[in-house]
Amino acid sequence: MPASGTFGYGTEYADVIAVESLGAVVTKGITACPWEGNPQPRLWETGCGLLNSIGLENIGVEAAVKDKAPVWATWKVPVIVNVAGHTLGEYVQVVERLKGVAGVAAIEVNISCPNVLQGGLEFGTSPEMAHQVTGEVRAVTDLPLIVKLSPNVTDIVAIALAVIAAGADAVCVSNTLRGTAIDTERRRFRLGRPAGGLSGPAIKPVILHMVHCVAHAVDVPVVGCGGIATADDALEFIMAGATAVQVGTATFTDARAMIEIIDGMERFMRHHAVKDLAEIRGVL
Ligand SMILES: Cc1cc2nc3c(=O)[nH]c(=O)nc-3n(C[C@H](O)[C@H](O)[C@H](O)COP(=O)(O)O)c2cc1C
Repeated sequence: MPASGTFGYGTEYADVIAVESLGAVVTKGITACPWEGNPQPRLWETGCGLLNSIGLENIGVEAAVKDKAPVWATWKVPVIVNVAGHTLGEYVQVVERLKGVAGVAAIEVNISCPNVLQGGLEFGTSPEMAHQVTGEVRAVTDLPLIVKLSPNVTDIVAIALAVIAAGADAVCVSNTLRGTAIDTERRRFRLGRPAGGLSGPAIKPVILHMVHCVAHAVDVPVVGCGGIATADDALEFIMAGATAVQVGTATFTDARAMIEIIDGMERFMRHHAVKDLAEIRGVL
């Protein structure tokens, strides 16, 4: 499935690739009100990676329900809505608004957003805050609930266990790694803000290790996400214990990347007589 924020609302790609051949569509982060996002520049390419500081620009939940959900409802592929917020109340507000909306199959909560009430710390960096936001969202939805973790922590397993204890049905490992780049001639940050999130092949070994650690510690599905660009990358995540994978940055270099990955995984399975990914999941 696409990684949130790299596939718009899914609708933008409907004429470019066979959206319905994906496992699911994941929307960009949606907030209670429309967000303008961060100042430009918002993207900077690094060695084997991409720094972004988009800042969750989005149309807000009302417009998503009114303009996007009716299209999602006509698709056979499930649509997972990624939810973000500055405050706990905002997460709850968005998830409550999505209740009963046709075309919304599941919720993915992005806990890598700053918690304004607690001084701008990310919700996902403390087990207590991660538990609290998951519990409050869990209380207002019966939809499958995926919590997308931040890799910018000392012990991601502790955060995973906290969100599962609060009712998460699955965890996504993970969001971007915090990073920056500097223009030495102009003596300025390359991005419009001092830091952004690093994605792409540069982060794959780090996230793969995190997936392995989390998958061995939890009993819910783990969605692997970080630097996957080829079928072999995806298979590495499955062998590390992931149930499913998401592809983000690779779509920016090739809009068909996910389709190629799915085809390549099928070729691998045929070649090695693997009938079900369960046969190789966590096989290490
Ligand atoms: C341009 C861009 C925008 C993103 N927006 C979001 C977002 O809105 N919500 C979210 O949870 N993750 C967001 N992410 C993080 C990705 O979903 C993904 O976790 C990360 O990029 C790692 O995967 P990749 O290496 O395959 O890109 C964004 C990433 C990029 C590059």
